[in-house]
Amino acid sequence: MSVVESRTVLLAAPRAFCAGVERAIEIVERALASREHPVYVRKQIVHNAHVVADLEARGAVFVEELDEVPTGATVVFSAHGVSPAVRAEAARMGLEVFDATCPLVAKVHSEARRFVERGDTVLLIGHDNHEETEGTLGEAPGSMVLVQSVEDALAVSVADPERVSYLTQTTLAVDETADVLAVLRERFPALRGPGSADICYASTNRQAALRMITAESDVVLVVGSANSANTQRLVEIARREGRPAYLIEDAGAIRPEWLDGAGRVGVTAGASAPPHLVSEVVEALRERGPVTVVEREATRETIQFTVPGAVRSL
Ligand code: F3S
Repeated sequence: MSVVESRTVLLAAPRAFCAGVERAIEIVERALASREHPVYVRKQIVHNAHVVADLEARGAVFVEELDEVPTGATVVFSAHGVSPAVRAEAARMGLEVFDATCPLVAKVHSEARRFVERGDTVLLIGHDNHEETEGTLGEAPGSMVLVQSVEDALAVSVADPERVSYLTQTTLAVDETADVLAVLRERFPALRGPGSADICYASTNRQAALRMITAESDVVLVVGSANSANTQRLVEIARREGRPAYLIEDAGAIRPEWLDGAGRVGVTAGASAPPHLVSEVVEALRERGPVTVVEREATRETIQFTVPGAVRSL
């Protein structure tokens, strides 16, 4: 084993919580503080095991579907959004709903409705089995098609090639999406898209910051949960750039052999990961020897989302 006497930790900035995640957590916290009875949360509020465990410890009850929620109870919809069918079910059950859907996901839903209303087939570029795409596709199941890859883009067929538009999941990799979109534009010259890109500012910025540290790093550690889409994209990007990259839930998941001979360790975190987990990773690296921390900032984020009026008045 080759020993590194001192290490440089390259911290990507921005990293960790985005505005949509902070807002979603605040909505659950306010609901918990204002209600005597249990507060149910449909699906993980954000895709992070630490966040979920923390809110659970404070009384939130996480469920997969509304049939696990008693009639008339309080429920929070997660940051990833829900389909109209879920909203209708909540209304039928007389539930008190607090909606933590990220405003940038809600924007994609409204674009989907607008495009379908004008008669388009909507190609949603995104990944299967993700709550965000399930919710968005639920806006118009008969008129929307999921496109997951360049292969899908080459194969997809639409009713009328003159009436076709696209949308994207908010947490995709910018470069991969560009490849898929190039194929769709080639096949459907009349393809129309959203006014501005759907890949959200937080995903875009975290990817740009990661690229700033990847080339300089011997190994890259990405803090986040395995079911977090934007976090997975960060790991994939670092690997595509030719660096060993590992997804870690927290500092406890670091394997000593990853650091073997690694004088420069890149560290970032997905948008659903709490910032303190990154600090704990740096501390864990410090316990293995002297560390110099250098931050590389791609941009400074100032975006904040306010909670819905109904939640503000709680
Ligand atoms: Fe929203 Fe993007 Fe965060 S869609 S929840 S700002 S990762």
